[in-house]
Amino acid sequence: MKDKIKIYLSEVESFTTDTIDQLEAFRIKFLSKKGLIPALFADFKNVAPVDRKELGQHINTLKQAVQQKIVSIKESIDQKTVSTNSSIDLTLPGESEIGTRHPLSIVRNEIIDIFSRIGFSVSEGPEIEDDFHNFTALNFVENHPARDMQDTFFIETDPDILLRTHTSSVQVRIMENTQPPIRTISPGRVFRNEAISARAHCIFHQVEGLYIDTDVSFADLKHTLFYFAKELFGEKTKTRFRPSYFPFTEPSAEMDISCNICGGKGCNICKYTGWVEILGCGMVDPNVLENCNIDSEKYTGYAFGMGIERITMLKYQINDLRLYFENDIRFLRQFESTN
Ligand code: PHE
Repeated sequence: MKDKIKIYLSEVESFTTDTIDQLEAFRIKFLSKKGLIPALFADFKNVAPVDRKELGQHINTLKQAVQQKIVSIKESIDQKTVSTNSSIDLTLPGESEIGTRHPLSIVRNEIIDIFSRIGFSVSEGPEIEDDFHNFTALNFVENHPARDMQDTFFIETDPDILLRTHTSSVQVRIMENTQPPIRTISPGRVFRNEAISARAHCIFHQVEGLYIDTDVSFADLKHTLFYFAKELFGEKTKTRFRPSYFPFTEPSAEMDISCNICGGKGCNICKYTGWVEILGCGMVDPNVLENCNIDSEKYTGYAFGMGIERITMLKYQINDLRLYFENDIRFLRQFESTN
């Protein structure tokens, strides 16, 4: 048996070919089920125990030699095919293009960062939602006109299932499963049935925030958002709150910041008012807390929500929302970020 292995080994060492077919025949001869190496392993059973160790090693050496031979011949055949079939020079250094983050990701990460510094966690949830989490739990009474504030994509076969119109739905899921204190933001993609234009899109991104604890007040909300605006738009930024309406908050407000382009003097971005709107907010309606099994006698909370597209437009002076989705490399190359 030892001699046999020696003969095979020298055959393997001297074997050479430049065709795939011959290489395959070689593989079959040695390695296939009925090949020479499995036959050697079969004979191995009859070898006297004292010789086993040595013979075993020889068979393994042979097997490895066959495998290495196949790999090296295959490599040289592949190389020849490439060099004769094309003019690609694989030895040239690669033409590397370092990508940049999408502006929406840059701003989303910045927003997350600002809120995580004051103790907010990040929560995510499904984009395909049911009516309860998107509307009913949030105090949108059935057939209430407030449901039309957000033009919704429903799933045709089941009106209970829809594409979420805001990430407040994620906060409902959090409230259902956690007892306060809750302090979380939910970034994510949302969908509304709107015609696509420079100022509106049927898909966009939001970050919504929620804080629930004992004794949370409107003053907490104002100060948190004041801190946020200064962190994102600069130390000189001013904020103002205007009364507004949302079914899930009472009282509700919209927050404006002093126009970051003209510093409040008036320009065409702020329509010469000196202010631009950036988010909606308010104190969580007690009905919402109760719908999510939170004791509204004991706890109060605030919520806020903003569109990332809009904030990015203000931050980078982008005047057409459609640019975000077109993937034009000339647009994307203008953004560089380390986070
Ligand atoms: N969910 C609201 C929207 O999508 C934003 C919002 C969130 C307003 C929380 C108030 C409080 O428009």
